[in-house]
Amino acid sequence: MSKKAWGGRFEEKPEDWVDAFNASIHFDKNLVDEDIQGSIAHATMLANQGILTQDEASTIIAELKVIQQDIHDNKVPLQESLEDIHLNIEHELIQRIGAVGGKLHTGRSRNDQVATDMHLYTKKEVQNIIESIAAFQQTIVNLAEQHVDTIMPGYTHLQRAQPISFAHHVMTYFWMLERDKSRFTDALKRIDLSPLGAAALSGTTYPIDRHETQQLLGFGGIYENSLDAVSDRDYIVETLHNISLTMVHLSRFAEEIIFWSSEEAKFVTLSDAFSTGSSIMPQKKNPDMAELIRGKVGRTTGHLMSMLMTLKGLPLAYNKDMQEDKEGLFDAVHTLKGSLKIFEGMLASMTVNTDRLATTVRQDFSNATELADYLVMKGIPFRDAHEIVGKLVLWSIQHDMYLLDVPLDVYQAQAPEIEEDIYTYLQPDEAVKRRKSYGATGQDAVKHQIDVAKQYL
Ligand code: ARG
Repeated sequence: MSKKAWGGRFEEKPEDWVDAFNASIHFDKNLVDEDIQGSIAHATMLANQGILTQDEASTIIAELKVIQQDIHDNKVPLQESLEDIHLNIEHELIQRIGAVGGKLHTGRSRNDQVATDMHLYTKKEVQNIIESIAAFQQTIVNLAEQHVDTIMPGYTHLQRAQPISFAHHVMTYFWMLERDKSRFTDALKRIDLSPLGAAALSGTTYPIDRHETQQLLGFGGIYENSLDAVSDRDYIVETLHNISLTMVHLSRFAEEIIFWSSEEAKFVTLSDAFSTGSSIMPQKKNPDMAELIRGKVGRTTGHLMSMLMTLKGLPLAYNKDMQEDKEGLFDAVHTLKGSLKIFEGMLASMTVNTDRLATTVRQDFSNATELADYLVMKGIPFRDAHEIVGKLVLWSIQHDMYLLDVPLDVYQAQAPEIEEDIYTYLQPDEAVKRRKSYGATGQDAVKHQIDVAKQYL
């Protein structure tokens, strides 16, 4: 067991199982690159400010780089008794270069160090997430472009409502994801801040230059208050929220894919490469990837709730509770990136059964609004038209027919204004084509929508 960095004041050491409870090394080793980057910036600044000599700083920085590589190559035994990544690296540094390694921690604390690492990590991953979302949006646009003319039933209350274009349906998810991207981008303003130099809580007596480390680390801004710098975890809550909402969007889309691929709908066929079978039922092909994406919202939302609860009632400034900010965020980032990648592959390899969709949309009453609009066109007030169509739908149900099968004399008995052209007017593709209003499902409007969407990519 290694000597504690804080051993001086203590007469007794914790037992191994107590160290194990206290330690975060098994998850914060994920921050090795950020920790080294932060330390290099700190050492550079200490030397420029005359707090360390240039030689001391160079020795420290050169060895930190070697340690970084050695950790990646699993050549450094990371120890629970050294708690976390910060103390493990510092211990290794002192082992290798001696006392001068002990000068690195001048004018900083693990409190601003861990906050710096987490800001660097969150910034990097949020940028990665924004790129992954954009890649997924591109897949949606590609799919939409192939299916502007594919007509499908549009639903409300999961009941057939009106025919729509398949492209229009999937493009809805493009816009949800566009808002997600914009939320992640906006959050970057608050993520991209440097806490380094706040030290334990009150700043430091050494003549450090916080703006220099801010610039060296590429942070866009700096915390104005040292207590705030070490105790702010809002940006983690915000990121967990943004991840959770994006996952909620993916889960809604996943649910549609699950329904679309069912025997009942058969609107799409998933590729074998993104499906699984059953160990007992030989015929089964299950949409496991979509189900898992739908299911994983539980994890990400759980991490958000957990972070909010951890922070509730925490007094200023740093409290060890804050060590609980890491596992949830790491897992949420991993979950979202994985889900986006899987969804992209699943969508790109999925077959849209256009014939089946075209047949389906003729076997329902989703053209009933068309009939009402037709009557309005003939001068009948919409409320009366609605009543007439309602009666015709009821008649059709009683006679086991759809509106396109109803004989003209039955139509004319209800409304003499109805003529032969009704049979063209009620065609689902005609219904879609007529929806020319801005943002509507008509082919021209959808093509315009896709053009606008492409400008966002
Ligand atoms: N492992 C700690 C964390 O993740 C690092 C900061 C420890 N600071 C302290 N004063 N004990 O929060």
